[in-house]
Amino acid sequence: MDRIRIVGGNRLNGTIAISGAKNAALPLMTASLLTDQTLILDNVPRLADVAQLQRILGNHGVDIMVGGKRSGDGEYQGQTLHISAADIIDTTAPYALVSTMRASFWVIAPLLARMGEARVSLPGGCAIGTRPVDLLLMALEKLGASVEIDAGYVVASAPGGLRGAAIEFPKVTVSGTHVALMAATLARGTTVITNAACEPEIVDVADCLNKMGAKVSGAGTPRIVIEGVTKLGGARHTVLPDRIETGTYAMAVTMTGGDVQLEGARPELLQAALDILTQAGAEIAVNNRGIRVTRNGAALNPVDVTTAPFPGFPTDLQAQLMALMTRADGTSHITETIFENRFMHVQELARFGAHISLDGETATIEGVERLRGAPVMATDLRASVSLVIAALAAEGETMVNRVYHLDRGFERLEAKLSGCGAVIERISG
Ligand code: EPZ
Repeated sequence: MDRIRIVGGNRLNGTIAISGAKNAALPLMTASLLTDQTLILDNVPRLADVAQLQRILGNHGVDIMVGGKRSGDGEYQGQTLHISAADIIDTTAPYALVSTMRASFWVIAPLLARMGEARVSLPGGCAIGTRPVDLLLMALEKLGASVEIDAGYVVASAPGGLRGAAIEFPKVTVSGTHVALMAATLARGTTVITNAACEPEIVDVADCLNKMGAKVSGAGTPRIVIEGVTKLGGARHTVLPDRIETGTYAMAVTMTGGDVQLEGARPELLQAALDILTQAGAEIAVNNRGIRVTRNGAALNPVDVTTAPFPGFPTDLQAQLMALMTRADGTSHITETIFENRFMHVQELARFGAHISLDGETATIEGVERLRGAPVMATDLRASVSLVIAALAAEGETMVNRVYHLDRGFERLEAKLSGCGAVIERISG
């Protein structure tokens, strides 16, 4: 199993190209199942989760042609996928494929909407909480589907097609909103989703669906209206930049000090996080190529942060912020409100010498003067990258194990960081 070795202490200086967003690319690829014509997606990141979804779509009979620049080809553009679901040969998504990645469960929506049936394995347990799918199933039932659980599979059917409905989510859910939105595009009549998630990835998917011929308005607000159409067609769409990758590198520079241009980043996608970094002592400047993050040698200020749905501070940056605050000059508090068990990084950060205590959903972080490198590992993607951030500022060597978590969501992590002066290398095997 690959490991990543980091020797901390260097400042980061240079340019990092921000990749396409994983959490937009996955639902965009899934939306290809809604049409028998070709969907072309540009700026798709090369990630393990993207490759896994390619396998899952392939199992349904989808053809995917991969084009675009290869990694290391100078200016980095991501890959282009030509996705054609002309013939769906199988409406079952099996356990072996779905259990490794939760977002693959979302294929249930387009399969049901286009084919009138879907049989999808319940997603596997996840290291950040129980993550149920009850709200996704509620939305499909509102749209007229009958839904049963049979031997670990959700069996959904709507032989006469889905029909528009009022769907009110009792809590904000990104997955529920994606599923309701995709399913409603091909339903008869109008669907109104209230208390919808406002995440930029929802807007990106809605934009793409509209290019495919859907009639979606209000995406990015809590009320989305979808007029159903009988058929969707092909389209070409560019995946928006990854706001979590942007925030992660912004925190890495704030941690080490230095001056890094985040090429292609869009500040409006992560304003809450940029505001917190400014409070912590970073200088954030927006220019026409992206975002420039600088920090001189001054001390880091502690912050108090509570995660929240967009436009609040994202749960997917919580672990990275905690790593940063381990070196603050004072005590910080971070409250996690989205997932009940997303503190797996706390015990690993302690290996560096961090002082963190947990009380329910709030972590109290007392900044320390120095971190020391250590062997560490984490059980989810964002927690893993928080360990990389700590390692970049720690004295001596850190070995990050279980690197496959990082490969799920961070494209060319070592290359991007070493290009800015970090001592970081992958050790294979
Ligand atoms: C998406 O997960 C992201 N994944 C997550 O990113 C992200 O952390 C999360 O949204 C919140 O922003 C993708 O986009 C692929 P939710 P999702 O449905 O859609 C509860 C990463 O690291 N809930 O908004 O699964 C749920 O348990 C990942 O890239 C129900 O109770 O999140 C959670 O407490 C991790 N019933 C809350 O809602 C349901 O049926 C929000 O979940 C569905 C969700």
